[in-house]
Amino acid sequence: MKMLNIALPKGRLGEKVYAMFEKAGFECPSIRENNRKLIFENEEVGVRYFWVKPSDVAIYVERGAADIGVAGKDILLEYTPDVYELLDLDTGKCRMAVAAKADFRDDPERTLKVATKFSNIARSYYASQGRDIDIIHLNGSIEIAPILGLSDVIVDIVETGTTLKENNLVVMETIVPISARLIANKASYQFRTAQIRKIMQEMAAQLEEKP
Ligand code: PRP
Repeated sequence: MKMLNIALPKGRLGEKVYAMFEKAGFECPSIRENNRKLIFENEEVGVRYFWVKPSDVAIYVERGAADIGVAGKDILLEYTPDVYELLDLDTGKCRMAVAAKADFRDDPERTLKVATKFSNIARSYYASQGRDIDIIHLNGSIEIAPILGLSDVIVDIVETGTTLKENNLVVMETIVPISARLIANKASYQFRTAQIRKIMQEMAAQLEEKP
């Protein structure tokens, strides 16, 4: 049987999600050996896992290098990859929000300067509000932008709120809740439906057991 290729997001979320695959019967014990290897397979159950940057999972899946994978809804909204979104895994939960300095007062007559890694999400959010904005695309440490006057607000992920708090920023609006999603390559889903659906169903059952 051909191995099912599964792209996992490297990091804490990936480890949580791997535990779900393991519990679903698709274990790969070598993955728990802590080394720098990126690819692990278990021929017996027919799976090959690989760790990739969380924001790259959808690229592997869209292009078929991975049959399935786990990606954050933030990435799916931002890059709209042509993949099937099979299941909300109810983990990696956070929200996409607009934040600013506590004393920021918005003037709707002015173009709003928005710093973000999520330019498409920010653009469509403000377009839906009919608001003119100027996007400043950054790659990280977005919280600094309003402090230094580079932007009026930021659009970014808020999980615990600690990063904002430590930088004296406050949430002004929530754009959308975010969580991890099981995604599939469209052709793989067509040709390996049974195998992929099995994983999906096992994982859905785990979610139902959750308190
Ligand atoms: C995100 C986000 C914030 C932080 C929010 O960064 O950009 O900086 O998490 O989390 P908190 O509300 O719990 O403080 P992430 O760690 O995902 O990586 P990044 O710095 O590469 O964006």
